[in-house]
Amino acid sequence: MREEAARGLEDARRRTTRLTDIDEPELTTQHSPLMSPLVWDLAHIGQQEDLWLLRGGDSRAQGLLSARVEQLYDAFEHPRASRVSLPLLTPAEARSYLADVRGRVLDALERADDDRIFDYVMVEQHEQQHVETMLATHQLRDGAPILGAGSPLPPGRDVPHDSVLVPAGSCTLGVDARDEPWSLDNERPAHTVDLPAFRIGRVPVTNAEWQGFVDAGGYDEPHWWSERGWKHRQEAELERPLFWSAGASRRRFGHHEDIPADEPVQHVSFFEAEAYAAWAGARLPTEQEWEKACVWDPGLGRRRRWPWGDSDWTPALANLGGDALGPAPVGAYPAGASPYGAEQMIGDVWEWTSSSFEPWPGFTPMLYADYSAPFFGGDYRVLRGGSWAVGGASIRPSFRNWDHPVRRQIFCGLRLAWDVV
Ligand code: AVJ
Ligand code: FE
Repeated sequence: MREEAARGLEDARRRTTRLTDIDEPELTTQHSPLMSPLVWDLAHIGQQEDLWLLRGGDSRAQGLLSARVEQLYDAFEHPRASRVSLPLLTPAEARSYLADVRGRVLDALERADDDRIFDYVMVEQHEQQHVETMLATHQLRDGAPILGAGSPLPPGRDVPHDSVLVPAGSCTLGVDARDEPWSLDNERPAHTVDLPAFRIGRVPVTNAEWQGFVDAGGYDEPHWWSERGWKHRQEAELERPLFWSAGASRRRFGHHEDIPADEPVQHVSFFEAEAYAAWAGARLPTEQEWEKACVWDPGLGRRRRWPWGDSDWTPALANLGGDALGPAPVGAYPAGASPYGAEQMIGDVWEWTSSSFEPWPGFTPMLYADYSAPFFGGDYRVLRGGSWAVGGASIRPSFRNWDHPVRRQIFCGLRLAWDVV
């Protein structure tokens, strides 16, 4: 367990370094008002590691930074758009702070009690989440590519874009720490729910399918949109997914390229996803439906750890880890299918659900008590399954992500669902 935690921390740092080993102005400028300058994420990663692992979360204890500098990295105090004007650490200072913290953390890990190992993996997951955030910043950045082209993915196959039936019945939702030791607080505890029958898309909605919605005038027809969604569509002047341009091309990490028909659509907001689903004669799944379709094994009457079974992730089963810089075409992972036959539920794109972010019954906050709890009941929708950008150890079928319904710079798409009548 200790080695797993150390390896995880190392993997997260390798990814952080790859995204931040770039010219200084790229780190200190604000590429988008939606995002922090990269150098803020960089030092914040160290600050959280310092707080949770060197001081056990006691923010009054002296860390490696002065209290005055440390508070610059408090995400609740400073909204993203304001961070560029703070007296932040320079990239060189941030790097040396991170290295200093990490050296002490690895020493502490060797001596840590078994029941504290979770905190180390939690901090690794925090860093991996910021890696994904920094990838979103890289995607928003203008200018020539600096990340390369992305590593190859398995080819798609001619999979039916139909739906699979999930019959009515009870299933277990969420997990207990006993079974999933690295699960975060909002994934716990395991509990039973009884769901009516539904159908869910075998694969995520593709770019070609989304183009059909654009071509049919879906962005100009209020009928498909919720009242809030239409109001936002008007104000933000939405006409197509973020990063698409008018002539069937898109910008991806600085590359201008054709839009691949069979790739899951990315960079659509919840409001757009909801409108698309209505146009397609469908709806978005609830997160309960999503999780059941992902891991419930009706034959065994229990959850699997993963859609494909209980074995660990390999690159043949799902697109995770970030090296691809994008989703794989639909049909690329037949071996990763769930018991009900849904494919690509893990990796590729975060999938919007219709659910707001609420605690599971019996929720108990973890050491990092403000990770989830302050966001329950807010204006968020839950996203499931992880994207191509998430670290392999930072996703589970029970993992719950959330964001505002207007957001689309994250690596998000959708999968449809239908009532069964
Ligand atoms: C779980 C992605 C919603 O970015 O707001 C990072 C992750 N929390 N640092 C976010 C997070 C604190 C969080 N999300
Ligand atoms: Fe954070």
